[in-house]
Amino acid sequence: HKAIKKICCIGAGYVGGPTCATIALKCPHIDVTIVDLNQARIDAWNSDNLPIYEPGLDEVVKTARNRNLFFSTDVDKAIIEADLIFVSVNTPTKKSGVGKGYAADLGYVESATRHIAKVATSDKIVVEKSTVPCRTAASMRKILEANGKAGLRFDILSNPEFLAEGTAVKDLDAPDRVLIGSLDTASGFAAASSLVDVYANWVPRERVITMNVWSSELSKLAANALLAQRISSINALSAICEATGADVDEVAYAVGLDSRIGPKFLKASVGFGGSCFQKDILNLVYLSESLHLPDVAEYWRQVVAMNESQKRRFTEHIISSLFNTITNKRIAVLGFAFKKDTGDTRESSAITIIKYLRAEQAKVAIYDPKVEESQIWFDLAEPGIVDDVTALKKQVSISSSAYEAAAGADAVVICTEWDEFKDTNLDYEKIYASMNKPAFIFDGRLILNQNKLEKIGFKVECIGRSRLEETFE
Ligand code: NAI
Repeated sequence: HKAIKKICCIGAGYVGGPTCATIALKCPHIDVTIVDLNQARIDAWNSDNLPIYEPGLDEVVKTARNRNLFFSTDVDKAIIEADLIFVSVNTPTKKSGVGKGYAADLGYVESATRHIAKVATSDKIVVEKSTVPCRTAASMRKILEANGKAGLRFDILSNPEFLAEGTAVKDLDAPDRVLIGSLDTASGFAAASSLVDVYANWVPRERVITMNVWSSELSKLAANALLAQRISSINALSAICEATGADVDEVAYAVGLDSRIGPKFLKASVGFGGSCFQKDILNLVYLSESLHLPDVAEYWRQVVAMNESQKRRFTEHIISSLFNTITNKRIAVLGFAFKKDTGDTRESSAITIIKYLRAEQAKVAIYDPKVEESQIWFDLAEPGIVDDVTALKKQVSISSSAYEAAAGADAVVICTEWDEFKDTNLDYEKIYASMNKPAFIFDGRLILNQNKLEKIGFKVECIGRSRLEETFE
């Protein structure tokens, strides 16, 4: 099989950027060019201010950039020169047409594929890195074969990405597994071996697994569906805890000790966010429906429904605790990113919770350590509603610290589990002194020491912890 000397990655986003920067770092003998149509994004990758925040990413990029790692908008040149091309473009949920609200929009994947066919002048290995519905490789192959120049061969591989935002560099450095799917043909196996060799530069060989391309595609959707299902399961239990006097952290600890269940990813919260979980489950729901499996579709649909219900329940509890009205009350929302250690806000629970708080006419003060102000305004604005931004700015303000957000507030609401918000890092006595009394804290991420804060004087409400004490007293 062929040794890979030049790699092109189409799509310089949260996946393409860190993934291919890591390949460049670990494989100094391979030239890696990451291309995107978005000039601003490429300029940022070439600057000191990278377009995405990930711990450790600056160093990876600085070490390899302009050595064997390049960022460019010259898509054609990178395709022509490459032996292997990663397709890492976005695959959002369709907003209209057939499968609207569920199916993945494969328009970007298709247009990148057509572009490869149009400009390629030599054989290519084309790798699906984007998360795609099962059998997308077949469509890509048809497009390449129908449009490529005569005599060229295109091999398609599936190589889904399992990195988690916030720990992307760590995950890429030491992945649990690397998955490569190929067609069961001699040239399919040869193409897979070429990609195995790339990863083998730093990933232990037994962690690089190969299988058929359809299993590989489905494994990515399956992994995200199971991860999200775990969160919805513990969140469903958190509701029972709140109503009974059980403590969800204790329950999670107890069940997590069962080696069949395991302790990870069992933290109750305001619900999952991020660009992938919901999109990929809805994609699985759509796939199930297309395969005439309505019960299967309904099963997975409930994982998303539970997530929505958790955000609603959390907000309703804020309102009822604040004596059933939050009109004109200042609510400090700490955290806007969908999880800690990322600036990504896609599908962040904070967005939904703030929307509910706004509907109750609250005044919301937001602070997040990494999310840009412009991104917050963008996420909260409701397109199409006239003068929404003016109304928005009357109700919502963005603070430059947790202290500023909390000053004069009736409640602090923790939406993201940033370490900065822990009671060991923030001065909660100072926060308490600056708030209206009774001063409430709603811990949507279970990061605070409830006893410590109650001693200061706060009324503390946590996801999955009993609210029955007052009735018992
Ligand atoms: P993103 O939106 O951050 O990046 C995609 C990039 O592709 C954009 O910069 C866009 O301008 C570019 N692009 C689109 N069409 C193009 C074309 N024809 N030529 C050149 N550039 C083009 O998306 P992200 O988050 O990187 O996700 C990419 C894929 O990876 C998705 O399918 C996603 O489901 C999957 N994924 C995402 C993970 C995550 O944590 N964000 C984790 C694992 C998989």
